[in-house]
Amino acid sequence: MLNDATAELFPALDLHKLASQEGTPLYVYSAPAILNKLRSLREALNGLDAGIRYAVKANGNGAILQLIAKEGAGADIVSGGELQRALRAGIAAENIVFSGVGKTDAEISLALDAGIGRFNLESRAELEAIQRIAATRGEMARASVRINPDVDAKTHAKISTGKAENKFGVSMDEARTWFEGKDQWPNVQLDGLHMHIGSQLLDLAPVREALARMAGFWKSLESAGHTIASIDVGGGLGVRYRDGEQAPDAHDYAQAIREALHGFTGRILVEPGRWLVAESGVLLSRVILEKQGQARRFLVLDAAMNDLLRPSLYEAWHDIVRVGSNATREALAYDVVGPVCETGDTFAVQRTLPRCEAGDLVAVMSAGAYGMSMASTYNSRPLPAEVLVDDERYAVIRRRQTLDAILAEEQPANHWNAL
Ligand SMILES: Cc1ncc(COP(=O)(O)O)c(C=O)c1O
Repeated sequence: MLNDATAELFPALDLHKLASQEGTPLYVYSAPAILNKLRSLREALNGLDAGIRYAVKANGNGAILQLIAKEGAGADIVSGGELQRALRAGIAAENIVFSGVGKTDAEISLALDAGIGRFNLESRAELEAIQRIAATRGEMARASVRINPDVDAKTHAKISTGKAENKFGVSMDEARTWFEGKDQWPNVQLDGLHMHIGSQLLDLAPVREALARMAGFWKSLESAGHTIASIDVGGGLGVRYRDGEQAPDAHDYAQAIREALHGFTGRILVEPGRWLVAESGVLLSRVILEKQGQARRFLVLDAAMNDLLRPSLYEAWHDIVRVGSNATREALAYDVVGPVCETGDTFAVQRTLPRCEAGDLVAVMSAGAYGMSMASTYNSRPLPAEVLVDDERYAVIRRRQTLDAILAEEQPANHWNAL
């Protein structure tokens, strides 16, 4: 990309000054952009008895969860850690749903302690575990069954979750047996359906197809005398990462839900993650050096795959811009890479950028979702800092990790334990 698109997202803040002050690599998020997305989704869902359960995995920073909590949205969590993050940020326990194929007994107990809204059950073994734990406590656990509708979400294979061969959810046939055998699980109030067919969905057709299957199932369960109080349609709404991609419109999405679930009198839940936060964030990085290799010209950044894994993991595209005025700069094709010792540590291949020099600031765009939440310390690289911007001011919402913090958990093998 030749123009600097960061100016649109952060019109009142000088990113050069910010980078000098806080260092790089640095995640920078716009609070107004996140709130705009949240409010526009809420507005699109207007008229439906619908609740938003933000998928914490997309970006679990406490300050972002607080923003979301203040707007009254809930959370979709997949671990005990995410549960505690959500609660600490002030998200009401009854607005938390717990998904995931491998909830441990300890996590189930933690969720019951908190009084979460619902478990989204992904297997018979999990249903039995929750029954066992809830019975020991003399409590009732509310639950939905996650249906795997066997629909091709037409997204990257690694983030497609609603095909029969995927590990998620159960078939409608299996779910039906759970409802029919309800008496075996007296401590589980099984009265909901859940689905999530995949992430970064740009086409609503698979969503419509999955919703139609869910609607048919809900109706057949009700005709058989079962109560369905909640239908959770999952997350997955895609965003525009590159030119030519068209993100689905929130109103079209809401309309698809409206049409499919027409006549449903229970509560509808949606679990967006990426759609709410991806485009609200960038990863700021400095150019360490330019290198003319034997076959390619490389731009080596101080950010790497450990900071933003998506390009390495999914060959995902992120627009990359040189921050500042580029009007007089010639355009060059670069492989944009990080310093990590893997060829996969590549943000972009043969990307046209204004000529860059050591010390220049670049921004990896649309990095607000599945960026920091997937970051690691590979190559002993401390985790980047995160800041939240509100017009011309900013707050550090995660301090840059120190090497001491990375090493703090390690110790020499001085004490050998016998079992
Ligand atoms: C159960 C569930 N709900 C919601 C989401 C959020 O997906 P997205 O960020 O694509 O909206 C995920 C993502 O993997 C998920 O597994």
